[in-house]
Amino acid sequence: MERKSIKLVICKDKNAVAVSSAQIFADEIRRKPAIVLGLATGGTPIGMYRELIRLHKEEGLDFSRVVSFNLDEYLGLAPEHRQSYRYFMDSNLFNYINIDKSNTYILDGLSKDPKGVCRKFEEDIKKAGGIDLQLLGIGRNGHIAFNEPGCSLDSRTGVVNLTQKTIKDNSRFFKDESEVPRQALSMGIATILEVKKIVLLTTGEGKAKAVAESVNGPVTSKVPASYLQHHSDCTFVIDKEAAQNL
Ligand code: GLP
Repeated sequence: MERKSIKLVICKDKNAVAVSSAQIFADEIRRKPAIVLGLATGGTPIGMYRELIRLHKEEGLDFSRVVSFNLDEYLGLAPEHRQSYRYFMDSNLFNYINIDKSNTYILDGLSKDPKGVCRKFEEDIKKAGGIDLQLLGIGRNGHIAFNEPGCSLDSRTGVVNLTQKTIKDNSRFFKDESEVPRQALSMGIATILEVKKIVLLTTGEGKAKAVAESVNGPVTSKVPASYLQHHSDCTFVIDKEAAQNL
């Protein structure tokens, strides 16, 4: 596969990252009102979601025909669990915009047939015509969605094991580390690379090493985000701190 360069937008702080990424999403939604979005969770996208809610309320940004697919979900958490990614999406975005919730696809972490759920998710993406614009974050170990170091380039949506580092990083959202699920359902690397356009957001010096390795390092399974060098339209929108090793 050919190696392409990842585009960079370096902002002065995390607020500017939120505003500038929301602008990219808003422009694309206005250009194609029935757009298919790929959405992400974690601490980083919250500011962008807040800005999208503002654009909806104050400038009439219309989500009524938007379809969305979320990157991942914890295995074993019910949708109403406060740390599930369904709960996250509802409480940080969907409840405040005019999206039709039946058009918001999030993997079911409680299903008795997780593999079947993952297969159907891939089919649903195809039926929707593919993802036009995908939002990503990045873990300190370079993971994207829940594709941890060691994942393969041709992985599809499936059940994945979380690394100790990710469990520790994500324990800040739970009462304690023992409550963090050890497995998740996640879009695969191949699934992500099929989207038309990717925007990855990150902030803070804790992500600087992962950012530099992803953008300038070799393409390696040790840094899953380095696979993004294979995508022809991928932009990292990051703050100065996350950019300090570039
Ligand atoms: C989780 C999510 C990822 C996200 C990462 C970074 O592990 N599965 O999709 O990119 O967190 O999150 P944060 O933005 O909180 O650093």
